[in-house]
Amino acid sequence: MEDEMGPGDRNSKRGWEITRRGFLKTMGSGATIAVTSGLLPMVDTAMAAEAKPEEIVRVDLLINGSQYHLMVEARWSLLYVLREKIGLTGSKVGCERGECGACTVLINSLPRYACMTLAVEAQGSEIVTVEGLMDGERLGPVQKAFAEQDAFQCGYCTPGQIMAADGLLRANPSPSPDEIRRGMAGNICRCGAYTHIVKAVAQAAELKREK
Ligand code: FES
Ligand code: FES
Repeated sequence: MEDEMGPGDRNSKRGWEITRRGFLKTMGSGATIAVTSGLLPMVDTAMAAEAKPEEIVRVDLLINGSQYHLMVEARWSLLYVLREKIGLTGSKVGCERGECGACTVLINSLPRYACMTLAVEAQGSEIVTVEGLMDGERLGPVQKAFAEQDAFQCGYCTPGQIMAADGLLRANPSPSPDEIRRGMAGNICRCGAYTHIVKAVAQAAELKREK
């Protein structure tokens, strides 16, 4: 069914696949961390807690294998820093409150909402954006599968969907269709391309296994 992974199914918590949406709901609106697995990656929470919101602090971020040294306001989200300070605009701005998944990046291989993660929290972690999934000049396996399966219409949600899929496949290289639907439940597609998205993730799993 086209609406099988619609927003109403986003709070389910089964096995390891506690959804990012469900996790956020559990933690309340003040939560700054959203993960698919329910396991919290290492973040620099002490630094985030100590700094005043407007305080300028230095952060050293490892993004797509490159180190970036930046002065940021402690309140700036990772999404803002990626897009406005580094120029990595693949991660999209959607709801900016942890609901749509358009901003999804990987932090220590786990899908996270970059809009709900402070840049200072991401220090010391390995960050991957959709730009980092390229295979040189060619599309990486997940990107290729999304293109081949027509898993988008307007394409706005697609970078976030691709990052969620890559995170899912890192944790579970051979997901069943149900596991794909649950793993992708934190990403909304307003165009309703869910059926194609599930096919794309299944194809991406095959492509990754062949590599
Ligand atoms: S923009 Fe981050 S979840 Fe919507
Ligand atoms: S393809 Fe348009 S929102 Fe998903």
